[in-house]
Amino acid sequence: MVVSVVLLWVCFCMLLFLIRTRRPKHFPPGPQTIPIFGNLHQLNLVNPVNDLQKLSDRYGKVFSFYFGGRPAVIITGMEAMREALLTKALDFAGRPGGVLLSHLTQGKGIIMADYGPSWKEHRRFALITMRNFGLGKQSMEERILGEVSYICAHLEKVAGQTIDPQTLFHNASCDIICSIMFGSRYEYDHEFFQAMIKMMADNSKIANGPWGMIYDTMPLLRNLPLPFQSALRDYHTVKMHVLDIVNEHRATRTPNEPRDLIDGYLDEVDKRGQDPAPFDDSQMLTMLLDLLFAGTDTTSNTIRAAVLYFMAYPDIQERCQQEIDMVLEGRDQLCFEDRHSMPYTQAVIHETQRAASTLPLSVFHCTTKDTELTGYQIPKGTLVIQNLSSVLHEETQWKFPHSFNPNNFLNEQGEFEKPPAFMPFSIGPRTCLGEGLARMELFLILVTLLRRFQFIWPEDAGEPDFTPVFGVTQAPKPYKMVVKPRTITAN
Ligand code: HEM
Repeated sequence: MVVSVVLLWVCFCMLLFLIRTRRPKHFPPGPQTIPIFGNLHQLNLVNPVNDLQKLSDRYGKVFSFYFGGRPAVIITGMEAMREALLTKALDFAGRPGGVLLSHLTQGKGIIMADYGPSWKEHRRFALITMRNFGLGKQSMEERILGEVSYICAHLEKVAGQTIDPQTLFHNASCDIICSIMFGSRYEYDHEFFQAMIKMMADNSKIANGPWGMIYDTMPLLRNLPLPFQSALRDYHTVKMHVLDIVNEHRATRTPNEPRDLIDGYLDEVDKRGQDPAPFDDSQMLTMLLDLLFAGTDTTSNTIRAAVLYFMAYPDIQERCQQEIDMVLEGRDQLCFEDRHSMPYTQAVIHETQRAASTLPLSVFHCTTKDTELTGYQIPKGTLVIQNLSSVLHEETQWKFPHSFNPNNFLNEQGEFEKPPAFMPFSIGPRTCLGEGLARMELFLILVTLLRRFQFIWPEDAGEPDFTPVFGVTQAPKPYKMVVKPRTITAN
């Protein structure tokens, strides 16, 4: 009997050994895999960033990791990141198929579109059209400042009370994108608008959280009634609503007088005549949803992180306010150009982005051909994960890698300086398409808020907690704040 059990056990172990995933020759090293799970059991799925850092300490800046049977290469640190995304930019510019996000978008639009003509043309179209906004009569700056006035009006109403700012900042970031895409913004209490924002926040949590990982790793479970089904359903609901808005635009537009991004797209289709490919309705819808998703959580979570730091470091908040008051003295409104006269405030905003590390693992890439990285061979079609957070906290790159300190962005003369390891928007051909817009939003919103209000950590709220909540975007834990209006010196 004992012999049979031992024999059975030996056979089982041999079977596991035989079906164990083997790394290809010269592939980056990594931890031992187990069947079915690969290395998934070695990650804290609620927030894998620290585990990936520990694995890098053990296996090197470029290492491999198996999501189930699928190999991925993890890039850590600035040097390897630059080799992959700048030196070998096109080799690493693909997007993986077969993951939840690519199933949601069917690989269309921009974010999850693989490297190729459709991605290139849509990215170019969106960049140029957004740069020219300008579309219609309002400049991008005016659109943002218009939204800031709604935020300020709301904060004035709740001055002195203890509030959670999450919904307000989400509403404002989403409304700025809506104004660019649809030509109009929503009232903050609009029913669909609220539902859409909630769906986006939920989907962000699902897509990069444990359920997303399970979906990506175990195809057999995909049809079960698990939380990723609600992500697919919610995505479809928002898509149908955006389709209604597109149809409304078709009925009311004047060709060649674009009011917004949708009109611009329809003009582009007309311009292309009989064969507008790759421009079509389904590409347009996915592109619009890409921009909505990419532009809401990212910006609003960064603003939330900034306000948390203002409250946790009241001396830093006050120093920004002194600089802002001095530069804007006698003026009613600020403009984006003012950033050049506000080195300290600029440093604080950049330090917030560094410390908050809003997209810690960027968006997953994929190799477009057989290639090499730091001497290792990586086959075409390999999933590539950029640990951007590792660069933003790399000890050899920053004066104060692990603490919140605006001096990371100030030189000895107190001038603003951006170190090369500052890459929260990533680098290379896939770099964030909304970087220009996001930088303008962060500056105009945060400076106006600092000028108009003092942000105070509520007395009964304990100590500020900087532990992030991981999702597609990383966010501060929900917190409460008190705002007190300031007297401004405009005359
Ligand atoms: C603080 C705010 C933001 C941060 C930190 C951020 C960061 C990023 C990062 C890290 C990527 C992935 C780049 C890569 O794969 O290498 C990305 C992609 C992208 N972002 Fe942003 N983003 C922000 C705001 C925005 C906004 C406001 C928009 C929209 C207008 C936007 C649109 C996009 C798009 C469309 C892509 C996909 C680009 C492509 O695949 O070619 N982002 N962003």
